[in-house]
Amino acid sequence: MLQTSRLCASYRAIQAVRDVSIEVPDGSLVAVLGANGAGKSTLVRSIAGVHRQKTGTVLLDGTPIQSMPLHKITRLGVALVPEGRHVVAPLTVAENLALSSYAGRSDQALEDRVYDLFPRLAERRDQAAGLMSGGEQQMLAMGRALMTRPRVLLLDEPSMGLAPSIISVIYEAIAALHAEGQSILLIEQDATRALAVADHAYLLQRGEVRMAGTPAELAQSDDIKKAYLG
Ligand SMILES: Nc1ncnc2c1ncn2[C@@H]1O[C@H](COP(=O)(O)OP(=O)(O)OP(=O)(O)O)[C@@H](O)[C@H]1O
Ligand SMILES: [Mg+2]
Repeated sequence: MLQTSRLCASYRAIQAVRDVSIEVPDGSLVAVLGANGAGKSTLVRSIAGVHRQKTGTVLLDGTPIQSMPLHKITRLGVALVPEGRHVVAPLTVAENLALSSYAGRSDQALEDRVYDLFPRLAERRDQAAGLMSGGEQQMLAMGRALMTRPRVLLLDEPSMGLAPSIISVIYEAIAALHAEGQSILLIEQDATRALAVADHAYLLQRGEVRMAGTPAELAQSDDIKKAYLG
């Protein structure tokens, strides 16, 4: 009995229902692959409440959140790192992190955790965010999302436009967060990178889930091999 209730309590499901229906179990890393225009950003933006859908449901631990105001969705633990990494350009790294912490209150322990995850940000602590490289801005955008103590972290194409060495740093951080039990929904066009770290994956095509399964299952599919694995 105890076993059963524990299992239920620890299970977190996100569903975005339109044509698309996906689930992120608690503590898992779920990847969503898809070509340009497949509807990947629309999916995470809908979950985060940035994009409002006329129909559909987003459930966080069984609670519908799709009609809630944005700040409430954030407070409940949904954090989006958007495509194109939004940071506050004139503010320093430290100021960007402080701004994102709960109610703008400083949270040194959490800030230190971000610096542990991305030592490069610690070195750039007093640097204006707008003057940093794309990779550093991606790290900072992830750091800002982590400052909200998210239950689910939504990452929209974190590798986009970055050099392979920087992508590796970003993916090491993603794997470290996953190992700590952070639930992550990872949007990617780079199937090789995403399938290497995911527990479960979806392929989106024209706004629909074309395929779902384990990374091994998706990697074996001809569709994915042809379009994404080269
Ligand atoms: N489920 C859907 N049904 C119908 N249209 C959709 C759906 N999802 C997205 N679209 C539309 O498809 C277009 C592309 O969507 P979106 O920007 O989400 O794609 P993307 O996969 O993030 O693309 P990119 O790789 O370029 O970032 C948008 O105009 C959007 O409104
Ligand atoms: Mg997109």
